Amino acid sequence: MIDGKKVLFSGMQATGNLTLGNYIGALKNWLTLADDYECFYSVVDMHSITVRQDPAELRSRARKLLTLYIAAGLDPKKNCIYYQSHVSGHAELSWILNCFTYMGELNRMTQFKDKSAKHADNINAGLYTYPVLMAADILLYQTDVVPVGKDQLQHLEITRDIAQRFNAIYGDVFTIPEPFIGKTGAKIMSLQDPTKKMSKSDENLNASIYLMDDKDTIIRKFKRAVTDSEGIIAYNDTQAGIHNLIDIYCACTNKTPDEVVKEFEGKGYGDFKLAVGESVADLLTPLQNKFFELEKDKAYIDGIIKENGEKANYYATKTIRKVQKKVGFPERIR
Ligand code: TRP
Repeated sequence: MIDGKKVLFSGMQATGNLTLGNYIGALKNWLTLADDYECFYSVVDMHSITVRQDPAELRSRARKLLTLYIAAGLDPKKNCIYYQSHVSGHAELSWILNCFTYMGELNRMTQFKDKSAKHADNINAGLYTYPVLMAADILLYQTDVVPVGKDQLQHLEITRDIAQRFNAIYGDVFTIPEPFIGKTGAKIMSLQDPTKKMSKSDENLNASIYLMDDKDTIIRKFKRAVTDSEGIIAYNDTQAGIHNLIDIYCACTNKTPDEVVKEFEGKGYGDFKLAVGESVADLLTPLQNKFFELEKDKAYIDGIIKENGEKANYYATKTIRKVQKKVGFPERIR
């Protein structure tokens, strides 16, 4: 708890571009969370180097991501959006928690198995202990809730196990985090394979709409969206492609599926796809303009980075000092 509010923590990788799916499914629903939760959103650059990165590019992508979150409407005065690498407590707690994590547990992590298969030439220890750093991220702020996708649930589970193990030895040190089941938007599917989730790491660039795609690109991608040969715009499970387009259109226009089906009665897929593309462009254009405006205001963004880094550091230090004392590190002499 911070000032009577529960703590919410989420980390995001600056790899790949945010998609319309990220925006509609998650981000858009987070905009009002700061009224009820003390929110921390960390750009997890320390996690990123578990796979090889170009330094200049990592730096640039991290800043873009942070700026994009603000452009999308997260108020940086109410939400602590900051860089993980600016708060040394992440690394410090991570080391301590490493000593309370079993190799057997880490061996079971499916993401480690997947990533080591993908990066067979660089199976480093950081990739292996990635979940421990993630546990440190979460526990450092005495987090109550973590909004995570399915792919990260196993990491949240291990975080809880580590925290409970630590607490069992040293008393109530860490808050035990829960997955955050909040309001979520529609699950947006790939435009090329509507049975698969839209993903920022999809190799087929036509499968995803990126938040920074320009209008022409957006329209072109919707024109190519995979549908079916029914020829009728209906909202059902057998027409997965059309179902997805209706969901997107509803999210952008605040209409209901019924209204959309009526609106396009007797019309062809071509007309509908164009309308969906335009509604998406109308949603994203203001966000993009805001992004470009913020990106130019270097002093403003620098100020946010500094202020939020200090705020995160304040709370992180509280936990780290407590933990250091518990495990038996000598007191600091002032
Ligand atoms: N591993 C998460 C991902 O790839 C990112 C992340 C790092 C995270 N630390 C976190 C998410 C803490 C939630 C909480 O998506």
